[in-house]
Amino acid sequence: MFRLDGKVAMVTGAASGIGAAIAGAFSDCGAHVFVVDRDEALGRAVVSQLLERGGRAAFMALDVGDEKACGQIASEVAGATGHLDILVNNAGIGHVGTIQDTTVDDLDRLYRVNVRGVFNISKAFLPGMIGRRSGSVVNMASIGGLVAVRERLAYCMTKFAVVGLTKSMAFDHARDGVRINCICPGRVETPFVAARLREYPDPKRAYEEMCATQPMGRMGRPEEIAAAAVYLASDEAAFVTGAAFSIDGGWSAG
Ligand SMILES: NC(=O)c1ccc[n+]([C@@H]2O[C@H](COP(=O)([O-])OP(=O)(O)OC[C@H]3O[C@@H](n4cnc5c(N)ncnc54)[C@H](O)[C@@H]3O)[C@@H](O)[C@H]2O)c1
Repeated sequence: MFRLDGKVAMVTGAASGIGAAIAGAFSDCGAHVFVVDRDEALGRAVVSQLLERGGRAAFMALDVGDEKACGQIASEVAGATGHLDILVNNAGIGHVGTIQDTTVDDLDRLYRVNVRGVFNISKAFLPGMIGRRSGSVVNMASIGGLVAVRERLAYCMTKFAVVGLTKSMAFDHARDGVRINCICPGRVETPFVAARLREYPDPKRAYEEMCATQPMGRMGRPEEIAAAAVYLASDEAAFVTGAAFSIDGGWSAG
């Protein structure tokens, strides 16, 4: 088991799904976790669970698309803990559609959160990490950042950008003591996927069909993604940077 004892971590989009699982796993591995999300009620509930389990955690409300607020949160973290060791840029939103069903507004809405959100927070925290010559950034991309996913045009565009941003940052800062990697999950059972399923006339049938299309015949679990985030954040991953780590039950192998 990899450990994160004494490390300070921030997870965006940590009020739900994969982000909540990562916050839980980090806390269980000994990290002090800042749970960051735009949903305050759900975020505070996650923090309560972590504290009940004996962890150290605090909630911070943030819209990652707000550049100014991202800069302020970096100052707040510096005031509270002095530094940040681990940053997980997990907050993300989706959209279903081909280019014909996607408006410029749809594209801007996704780009603002999925791409500029990662850029804003990374830009706010990287100077501190470089200054200490220590840090791990884990970005949540998607299998849709490596291969096309049917009717997910805007989403794939933004997730390909997250993979590019990850590799560029990693290359630029490979000698600065800061590692930057991303995770590319296949379908994972979270409220994000549940929301997509509700858009179908028969959600139960859509769920079964979605599972049937997966190489393993099932979707992933948030904890299976969190395990990879723990590894990438840990000192055992000291030689890993610029990686796009697929955790997709075999999807990208086919
Ligand atoms: N679930 C999947 O199948 C899947 C697959 C591949 C990649 N991903 C990616 O994993 C990440 C998490 O997905 P999930 O399935 O856990 O989703 P989710 O909807 O369960 O959770 C996303 C969280 O992000 C928060 N969020 C959204 N916009 C925000 C903003 N502007 N500022 C701050 N917080 C914001 C939401 O409030 C929510 O708590 C996303 O980046 C998603 O694209 C998910």
